[in-house]
Amino acid sequence: MSVGALASGTGTILQAILAADIAVEVVITDRPCPALDIAEAAGVPAVLVERPSFGASFDREAYADAVVETLRKFDVEVVAMAGFGTVIPTAVRAFPGRMLNTHPSLLPSFKGWHPVRDALAYGVKVTGCTVHVVTEEMDVGPILAQEAVPVLPGDTEESLHERIKEVERQVYPATIKSFLDQGRNR
Ligand code: GRF
Repeated sequence: MSVGALASGTGTILQAILAADIAVEVVITDRPCPALDIAEAAGVPAVLVERPSFGASFDREAYADAVVETLRKFDVEVVAMAGFGTVIPTAVRAFPGRMLNTHPSLLPSFKGWHPVRDALAYGVKVTGCTVHVVTEEMDVGPILAQEAVPVLPGDTEESLHERIKEVERQVYPATIKSFLDQGRNR
């Protein structure tokens, strides 16, 4: 099954996916970001489908359609979100049960945009990451894998997030691979 990846940030999770020999047909970003360079360096087509605005005028459905159109151009069957900064619920309809995401908390705790900050503020002693199937409602889709990460004394949002991402860089590619293997056997 052919994979498309969506990213917005530094792209270290994307890099781990590419390093795991998962055949990614296209990387799409919603803004200029290092993930584009990572894709290009790996010889994977990198397409900037730039989000036109972050304000109230943003037409989310039209933007989701543009992303889906690009994924279809590359015959993508499975979509791996790798730190994508735009929620595109309607895109799920084009890839039902075939969009995956990694989230840096143990869902259902700490959904949303600041899971690491929120876990620290709550004072939990253990957090982690969750790989799940994306559904139209944010951060609630079926869970495929989870791994715990301890919160250490003196942790900052940055230090804790980096330790979680070290785990995500292992767990997410492994989970994508087994998801693809199961698809092959279906
Ligand atoms: C990861 O923690 C991922 O779970 C979250 O965004 C982060 C992406 O990290 N959605 P990077 O930009 O790939 O380093």
